[in-house]
Amino acid sequence: MRRKIIAGNWKMNKTLSEGLALASEVVNIAQDEVPSGVSLVLCTPAIHLSQVAAILKSADRVFLGAQNMSEHESGAYTGDISADMIKSVGAGYVILGHSERREYHHETNAQLAARVKLALNKGLTPIFCCGESLATREAGEHVGFVNNQLKESLYELSAEEMSKVVIAYEPIWAIGTGVTASSDQAQEMHQSIRASLAGQFGEQVAGQVSILYGGSMKPDNAAELLAQPDVDGGLIGGASLKARDFIQIAKSY
Ligand code: G3H
Repeated sequence: MRRKIIAGNWKMNKTLSEGLALASEVVNIAQDEVPSGVSLVLCTPAIHLSQVAAILKSADRVFLGAQNMSEHESGAYTGDISADMIKSVGAGYVILGHSERREYHHETNAQLAARVKLALNKGLTPIFCCGESLATREAGEHVGFVNNQLKESLYELSAEEMSKVVIAYEPIWAIGTGVTASSDQAQEMHQSIRASLAGQFGEQVAGQVSILYGGSMKPDNAAELLAQPDVDGGLIGGASLKARDFIQIAKSY
């Protein structure tokens, strides 16, 4: 069975004290309220990771993730963060290829392929983001565009490696805009991603990979999106910054 994952991407929000308060509140509420089959992941700013890790130690199903990682093991890469560093502070997940990183830091599919591979080699779970712009969708090219992102960043992996990757489909036009994809649009794309994985890695692997939806997922639209057969969770931005909203989404399963 595929894992159900509700991941919060805090992006560049929260000072340390605010972040620690948010993590504590999530842990406290999650204990009693999050359904037992659902895992939570908090992807905090890198500078908060080690202290949030201490808070999550006591939590059963709340895990820690970074928001980005270098494709280099170590060395003269000022400002970058390595896989070993992420592991060493107790995080198990890393978001790779978020559209904001692709846009503002010009991350390429080839660079992301190297990062996914390195993260897996180091025992981290990559949350690999893909998704099209509004112009690409309006041109009717969204399925091909996302397929190409998968192909160029993931399809050199072995089947065993692929089964450990989490994919997040995030249409760029839905991120932070309040305009979410309809449940039909999300299901169409998630189904097509799974079909593409099946073509490359076989049905068994495709059936194991959790595919999360991201883009203005909120307490009031989460239930419908999460009810789709190929939607296995969410990557939540804005609504992950309030513990109650974040947990409410997880409770929508
Ligand atoms: O990583 C999260 C996504 O970018 C979604 O952000 O929920 O604020 O639209 P959002």
